[in-house]
Amino acid sequence: MSMAGDLDARAKAILLKNDRGGYTVPTARLYPYQWNWDSAFVALGFATFDRARAWWELEMLLEGQWPDGMIPHILFRSNDPDYFPGPSVWQADLGPIPSGGISQPPVLASVVRALVESGGEDDARRGAAMIGRIAAWHRWWHTARRPDGCPVIATVHPWETGRDNCPDWTIGLDAMTVPDDLEPYTRMDVKHANPAQRPSKDQYDRFVTIIKAGRDCGWDQKALTGNGPFLMADPGLYFILLRADRDLLALARRFGGETEEIEGWIEAGVAGTDYLWNPALDAFCARDVRSGAFSSGVSSVSALAFYADAGTDAQRAATLVHIERIGGEATYLMPSWDPAAPLFEAQRYWCGPLWCQVNYMVSRGLAEAGHGALADRVRDDLAAVIAKSGFYECFDPITGAGCIGTDFSWTAALWLAWASPNARNGEN
Ligand code: DGY
Repeated sequence: MSMAGDLDARAKAILLKNDRGGYTVPTARLYPYQWNWDSAFVALGFATFDRARAWWELEMLLEGQWPDGMIPHILFRSNDPDYFPGPSVWQADLGPIPSGGISQPPVLASVVRALVESGGEDDARRGAAMIGRIAAWHRWWHTARRPDGCPVIATVHPWETGRDNCPDWTIGLDAMTVPDDLEPYTRMDVKHANPAQRPSKDQYDRFVTIIKAGRDCGWDQKALTGNGPFLMADPGLYFILLRADRDLLALARRFGGETEEIEGWIEAGVAGTDYLWNPALDAFCARDVRSGAFSSGVSSVSALAFYADAGTDAQRAATLVHIERIGGEATYLMPSWDPAAPLFEAQRYWCGPLWCQVNYMVSRGLAEAGHGALADRVRDDLAAVIAKSGFYECFDPITGAGCIGTDFSWTAALWLAWASPNARNGEN
């Protein structure tokens, strides 16, 4: 078997191994539940060999939707003592399935559009049936996570951005107070992974403090956004939602659904773009909503402007300069945090490692905007680290070494759907 064929077979075996009966865990033990954006990317991988199973993944994700429209970041379909913080810590019982009390990057509409447009009648039927529930989720983002006076959506917890300990959040986390009576807890992640590659104890104290604030307000999402301990705007969430709104609009048009409200979200989204432009760095950066301060570096999600089709010509040109500069500093594009910025660490989770799911979106956006060579480099580099190290959760952007979780579902899925040579020539 060729090397690509061998890696395809291994990737498929990982998805099947992590399947828990219609939903897929990101990796055994470290993340033993269904995660929101993981499931969406996993569906792209399943679709390369079992389209019915791909839709099932998404349907099980939607089963956890709260009455207010939020789709939680984790669905606790069991109670696994191997994970902290589990359902008894979150106490977020407002949905049909025990869950976390926050959401995660809304990539679902974009994945559904990709499956519908590459599929047949069954794909169209199953995709069309989801549009109303996806629209309810987008409405939730545009209302519950839109702080008064802020032109863009924001987030109440770094976990909601999916980029847990990225230095983007340092200003917001530092501005928080950890209460003296914070309940003692035992982290499980550091038992399953190298602690030097995971978030710090101080960051976890702050993550848990935000959960306590959510519990204390009964997970009233508007109250948590308005008065919670952390409130930052994230170019990742912002660009991903803008792109997802555009994809939802395309689906609504195709299936004859309501479009006016979605058009309004896109218009408001585009109008807010400048809020995230940091003139000091000439880049899209995270921003603390209450103080107005920007984060101190360029991240991989800064490059999602192309994916969202957002920003002025000058902003896009400056973004390209950053991507090219970072491409000269890192062996593998695009690290999650600028190697030249403070707090870069090549192997610590979101402080530098390369992540397949963000880079898949970065590469798609670059290709759509006509920057084919850079788009190819991002894809080639991801393929190279997988061929070198295996299907890890993330990768050192300097050496290509694999970091943290092994046999990781979205890495396997995006290999099959995007990075594998067989995906490129349409054979997967
Ligand atoms: C974790 O437990 O590290 C997850 O990223 C939270 O969503």
